[in-house]
Amino acid sequence: MKYDFESIIDRKGHDAWAIDDLYDDPTPPKEGWSVIPMWVADMSFATCPTITEAMAERVKHPCFGYFRTSDEYWNSIIDWHTKRNGVTGLERKHLGYENGVLGGVMAAVNALSARGDSILVHSPTYIGFTGCLENNGYNIVLSELKLDENNIYRMDYEDMEKKIKENNIHVCVFCSPHNPSGRVWEKEELEKAMAIFEKHHVYVVSDEIWSDLIRPGYKHIPTQLVSEYARMHTIAQYATTKTFNLAGLIGSYHIVYSKYLRDRIDKEGSLSHYNDINVFSQHALIGAYKPEGHEWVDELNQVLASNIDTMKAFLEGYGFKMTLPQGTYLLYVDATDYCEKHHISIDDLQKKMWDYGVSTQDGRPFHGSCHIRINVAIPPALLKEACDRLEKYVLEK
Ligand SMILES: Cc1ncc(COP(=O)(O)O)c(C=O)c1O
Repeated sequence: MKYDFESIIDRKGHDAWAIDDLYDDPTPPKEGWSVIPMWVADMSFATCPTITEAMAERVKHPCFGYFRTSDEYWNSIIDWHTKRNGVTGLERKHLGYENGVLGGVMAAVNALSARGDSILVHSPTYIGFTGCLENNGYNIVLSELKLDENNIYRMDYEDMEKKIKENNIHVCVFCSPHNPSGRVWEKEELEKAMAIFEKHHVYVVSDEIWSDLIRPGYKHIPTQLVSEYARMHTIAQYATTKTFNLAGLIGSYHIVYSKYLRDRIDKEGSLSHYNDINVFSQHALIGAYKPEGHEWVDELNQVLASNIDTMKAFLEGYGFKMTLPQGTYLLYVDATDYCEKHHISIDDLQKKMWDYGVSTQDGRPFHGSCHIRINVAIPPALLKEACDRLEKYVLEK
């Protein structure tokens, strides 16, 4: 590998929510056990060197006043989507800055709906969608993903259509790839969903923050590419933050082909007078979307796939159930059988993991009844350490 995904970096005291927050936990791990961060969705890898180089170069110039985003910034985005996602005809006018993907999702929902409206979302559900939609006064209507005979999460089209009709739904918040299931939607699946949306005039807010983190052998298809209706009725949200581990820098962007939708979302985004890019975020994106960024992500995806395979096989050996994530770096683990067999509650199981520093995320806020969400974006040696601790001190056969 050209890039370093092996080194274990000490993030303690370096502004890492994944670590620092946990040391403030009222009940820290047992004496002597360090925290292995496998919860919040960020990575414990050093980012792509061209990003830090671009930022360092900018730091050398000592003025940081008001600025306008450069052509280089917008052209870098166009280049990335053309090369990685096979997008054609993407122009500067289709792009807009957003202060984070979740904020962009909510700006889009707000631009297209009135408070109290019903919004269609798939379940299990990214915790951020649930929190923000509730906070903004929307009625969340869930359509549950169903496991097929091959243990793959699928959309339930009949259920989606029924709920759209019953609740007069005109906005769907769509997650592609899907957090937490890790599904990378196939073209036919997107087409089928879009046909239903078109039939009932549903606008789609497509959160594609995970679109670069794809297991080798799978392919991300932008929602907007599947039909003319999709192109003109979808507000798509993207970022470098998940791909390159830059969440602390803040920054994302939308792609919107319809002028009507652009006007609506730009107006909504402007209301706070707060939706403006940070100069470092701009230079980080330019550094990320260089040719080296493509190589870095390709290598990262290999490391993530290997980590997923390791963790999945390890947990399956103890009777946990899960599907193979086709994208993301998250395992959404069903602990129902394990908890029943060993007469342990999901709370106690997670507490036991935590006692030995293995910090995973409760799956219940994602609508899983007895689930754990596990982030494997850590160096392989640290993942092995987590498995060793679980094997020796936490899990039973
Ligand atoms: C699906 C999804 N959307 C949005 C976000 C948050 O993005 P941002 O930090 O840009 O708001 C996350 C973070 O995990 C996510 O998983």
